[in-house]
Amino acid sequence: MTTEIKILIAKVEDREQIGEVFDRVWLATYPNEEYKITVDDILDHIEKRRQRIRESREDRIKNPLKGETLLVAQEDDKVVGVCRLVVKDDRNQLQAIYVLPDYQGRGIGTMFWWEAQKYTDPKKDFFVELAVYNTNALEFYKKLGFVDTGRRMRDEKLRMKSGSIIPEMEMVKLSSRK
Ligand SMILES: CC(C)(COP(=O)(O)OP(=O)(O)OC[C@H]1O[C@@H](n2cnc3c(N)ncnc32)[C@H](O)[C@@H]1OP(=O)(O)O)[C@@H](O)C(=O)NCCC(=O)NCCS
Repeated sequence: MTTEIKILIAKVEDREQIGEVFDRVWLATYPNEEYKITVDDILDHIEKRRQRIRESREDRIKNPLKGETLLVAQEDDKVVGVCRLVVKDDRNQLQAIYVLPDYQGRGIGTMFWWEAQKYTDPKKDFFVELAVYNTNALEFYKKLGFVDTGRRMRDEKLRMKSGSIIPEMEMVKLSSRK
């Protein structure tokens, strides 16, 4: 058995596995007692996301939005991580890095970060938004050189069934090539 991890552009046939990575990582990461985000909230959010994808006529893997790249980390044929990047007019945006719980802490997040450089603009700053209580992600981004911008967000899209919102913060890594 090989344990080599490869970072590749997502293919249409990865769709099901990508969905599973999102669901499993959400469930493992986002329930939070302090901010009253329950497991039930996350299960409901996952179900609604699945419903939106089923109803959507657009295929984001086949036809990505302008500037968007979806990467997967694969061990053999198994998708163990997903990374979504968007190059906007004024910035690079790291929309998500999700690594399956059993595969975290093995350097896959860092591999995504290096691969991301190929699909983004080195002259633009890199922004990321994360849940304020996601300390693992905070440490991960700090290690990559991101700093807290001080901006805090409460996005209605992250309002859960219980009424609680997942509160977010913003981090930035400034480009050294501007
Ligand atoms: C955050 C995440 C993307 C990091 O990916 P990863 O593959 O686990 O990270 P790496 O193995 O490349 O770790 C790189 C560094 O990040 C830091 N780090 C990673 N996981 C950490 C943890 N659980 N606690 C503290 N620091 C952590 C460490 O400094 C680590 O360096 P080290 O191994 O030299 O100590 C991954 O853990 C994950 O998917 N978490 C759940 C989803 C999420 O929070 N995504 C980010 C928000 S979009």
